[in-house]
Amino acid sequence: MKHTFRRTVAVLAAMACASLGLPVAANAEFTLQDGETLIYGTDFEDGDVSAFSKRGDTDTSVISAGTDETAPDGAGVMLVTDRSSSWNGPQIAVEDYCDPGVKYAVSVWVKAPWYNTCTLSMQYTDAEGTDHYSNLGSAVSQGDWVQIPEVQFSYSEDMKNVYIYVESSDTTDLYVDSFCLKAAKVYEPEDDIPGLKDVYADYFKIGGAVTAAELAPNATKQLILKHYNSITLGNELKPENMLDQAGCQANAAAGNPGEVAVSLNGQARTILNFCRDNDIPVRGHVLVWHSQTPGWFFKDDYTKEGEWVDKETMLARMESYIKGVMEVLAEEYSDVDFYAWDVVNEAWLDDGSYRTGGMYDDNANASGWVQVFGDNSFIPYAFEYARKYAPEGCKLYYNDYNEYSDGKMKAIVQMATELKEKGLIDGIGMQSHLDVRTGPDAYPSVNAYIKALDTYTALGLDVQITELDATVPENSGDQYFEQQAQYYSDLMDAIVAHKDSISAVVFWGTTDDTSWRSTKSPLLFNGDYTAKPAYYAIIDGLAEVVPTEPGGETTEAPETTEAPDTTDEPTDEPTETTPLAGKLGDTNVDGDITILDVIQLNKYLLGDTSAVGDEGLANANVDGNGTIDATDSLWILKYCVQLISDFSEQG
Ligand code: GLA
Repeated sequence: MKHTFRRTVAVLAAMACASLGLPVAANAEFTLQDGETLIYGTDFEDGDVSAFSKRGDTDTSVISAGTDETAPDGAGVMLVTDRSSSWNGPQIAVEDYCDPGVKYAVSVWVKAPWYNTCTLSMQYTDAEGTDHYSNLGSAVSQGDWVQIPEVQFSYSEDMKNVYIYVESSDTTDLYVDSFCLKAAKVYEPEDDIPGLKDVYADYFKIGGAVTAAELAPNATKQLILKHYNSITLGNELKPENMLDQAGCQANAAAGNPGEVAVSLNGQARTILNFCRDNDIPVRGHVLVWHSQTPGWFFKDDYTKEGEWVDKETMLARMESYIKGVMEVLAEEYSDVDFYAWDVVNEAWLDDGSYRTGGMYDDNANASGWVQVFGDNSFIPYAFEYARKYAPEGCKLYYNDYNEYSDGKMKAIVQMATELKEKGLIDGIGMQSHLDVRTGPDAYPSVNAYIKALDTYTALGLDVQITELDATVPENSGDQYFEQQAQYYSDLMDAIVAHKDSISAVVFWGTTDDTSWRSTKSPLLFNGDYTAKPAYYAIIDGLAEVVPTEPGGETTEAPETTEAPDTTDEPTDEPTETTPLAGKLGDTNVDGDITILDVIQLNKYLLGDTSAVGDEGLANANVDGNGTIDATDSLWILKYCVQLISDFSEQG
């Protein structure tokens, strides 16, 4: 139910807040949804602007009460003049009104005299003393009043000096009206449904990605504790957040241009502390990537304006970076289980070619790594260094999106085969940012996805689904949730069918409202933490489990399926062939050479002698050396992804 928050109700809120010693404006008119509470709202009709201050000593803004006849909520407004920088403007001290761990919503009306993007932003200082700024929402004013629509935020215990403020793309005067800060309805995750990690405990880990900001609400923490036994830090371990530019520059100035400085940021700590305190294993994400890696990392003197460094220097930087990351984590979080790392992310394009060289900032397809190396030859080095410095037992992955597209699949198979031969790679990360669309037009189709699963598992490597989310059409509400549920269900059936080669399925997020694709509702839980049809679809038919209490003791998940020991070939014991000749490669003797032949042969090589009959064995001898072994399986796989067109070619 919706009701309009009129003066009388505002007075009640004022009384409630007054009893907490908190200021609240009693003269405002705001619309509240059921369960929301007004924390502070003002239409400035009383001329009181005392809740707002300028943003520190160097901010020149002058904040005063003013009037504007066109204002949306009475003529009284807050006037902001004398701004000398775009970030100058009025701020409100959030900690005076709000509590950590709670979700709030904020909105405001603004007017600028000419074209200006007006933004509601948030600032806070993390536990390290580093300030962070993020834009919550914005609207363009061209001399008219516009609303920066309601946007949610929350903060956690270890964030201090939390402010919400208004800024704009210019230094123009700003008019502000109808400021509304309210507590969002408090939701609890459902505790009478099974935890996903328990449902899938016999198969693989179930995980989620989370950023420090997303982790702030208590309810999100409870949701994670109930459902996930693997966490990926959404941004906090990426190079842009781990690299310390000043430290790097000091190294270069001291004559060590190949030495990198890294440090753990407060936001990473927020998540890692949570993982440590709750015994949740972590997927490291990501070491070597063209994106979210500063351009200066590839340049002389670690300055954006510098020349590109040479290959030798970049290799030194790569090693130093990987070593540094592993060291800072080992030093501070030796008790966190970093069980997997994405070593290289998104190096291949859909057509199987490498990226163009250049600055990611200028061209989203460009890679600084390719610029320096000329091609993707940096990849084996990354794995070599990761193997050298990663903790004992940590599995190393190549991670990518559109991993089901033919060209990319072919490139990944080729790369992974070479890395596997050197014992450098343990698995493939299938990001799996999928689109259900309206159902029948899903991209990829579940069958196309299965082909990719077949292909990567046939490599004899582990596979992890690392960033799973599956969107429905933009702003379509729950209209396609049943189709989404069906898609997720089919997908999870396929993943379970490959469970022996899959050690984790990780969703990219928690609830739809905080997803990076939030307008397309791609996850299993609604913004109010209730489970969507997709959740029910993926637990349907699986073993009954006793639900765990959210936030309570988490149930220790039984041993998950071990990833295959990827440093071994599938078999040590070559098998003598029978002298029957059929269609080479057609292991299952169905007349075609497909990935199914590889799967059957791998089963056979792993000891299931009933998997391939005599004729199939004769067909399997594709390298013609008279024994059936992993080389034959690999050649057939290469044939299937069109890396070779004929078995007489050297695989
Ligand atoms: C890619 C990256 C992730 C994340 C998502 C978008 O898939 O691997 O780290 O940035 O995009 O959120």
